[in-house]
Amino acid sequence: RPQLLSVDQFTRESVGELLRVADIMQPIARRQKVCRVLEGAVLANLFFEASTRTRVSFGAAFCRLGGSVCDTTGFSFSSMAKGESIYDTSRVIAGYADAVVVRHPEKGSVAEFARATNIPVINGGDGPGEHPSQALLDLYTIETEFSRLGKLVDGAHVAMVGDLKYGRTVHSLIKLLALYRGMKFTLISPPSLEMPAYLIEHASRNGHVVEVSNSLQEGLRGADVVYATRIQKERFVGEELEGYTSDFQITAAVVNAYCKADTIIMHPLPRDSREGANDLSTDLNHDPRLAIFRQTDNGIPVRMAIFATLLGVENQIQRNMRDVTWRAPQHV
Ligand code: CP
Repeated sequence: RPQLLSVDQFTRESVGELLRVADIMQPIARRQKVCRVLEGAVLANLFFEASTRTRVSFGAAFCRLGGSVCDTTGFSFSSMAKGESIYDTSRVIAGYADAVVVRHPEKGSVAEFARATNIPVINGGDGPGEHPSQALLDLYTIETEFSRLGKLVDGAHVAMVGDLKYGRTVHSLIKLLALYRGMKFTLISPPSLEMPAYLIEHASRNGHVVEVSNSLQEGLRGADVVYATRIQKERFVGEELEGYTSDFQITAAVVNAYCKADTIIMHPLPRDSREGANDLSTDLNHDPRLAIFRQTDNGIPVRMAIFATLLGVENQIQRNMRDVTWRAPQHV
């Protein structure tokens, strides 16, 4: 069954193919062309946890291919609040929709949802498990940024910073990047938030270098990509936010002191803008190395590519594109 539950399903070849489909989608994402290959199809967007980017960009991607979207957010808007099971919910939704995106706070819950249905299920984030569509758009961003810089992803040094224990985006991204050759990963966090051992072991295969560091300054040196993450406070049930201080914050001063002139600074967002937050400061907003909004824009073509591939219309996109007949707003 065509589903997107984990990046484990990809090979270097199949991920490359998906990113090529994302390239084909760019004129639609940039609002230069329209394409209605999914006309008549319905997407159920079931988000049992908060989301801005994943929920809206999956919805927008489906609409831009001609489909329609039904959205729910939070348990209180679902009959799970009355005790309905994942199995029953999944069976019911399969009768209403042609594809479903599920975000849920429990690791493994989206796979459980998928086992009960025949329609394509996409993991929009399962607790501290995986976030495969985010990792695909992150990889697409790294590929496009490196292409602009005349660099290859093979052999790159990627520094991941912050909450590597609970951050599902890095759990998926490190596995995708491990499909490349000769990578170096520096995993920078306080001891209490280190990357799970099974992922370190996974990333160490095939000759990749993996270094675990509790020092931001040491870990950033020489990195081609710095991938910052938010501390996942919602996952700390009964635990203290021990050891996580501004010592791990990516700021303009840190980047200017320890990063290269062509280092790419990424973050899956949201970044925490509240007083005392410590992931990625706003003083980098005008630094061209900051790729965070190019990253969010890439969510549309990549998620269109995911739908087109899962629903089997990827080869119909180009011949069904038409010019837009309306005045598309200028995107910043
Ligand atoms: N990156 C990401 O998953 O953002 P949202 O939580 O806003 O969907």
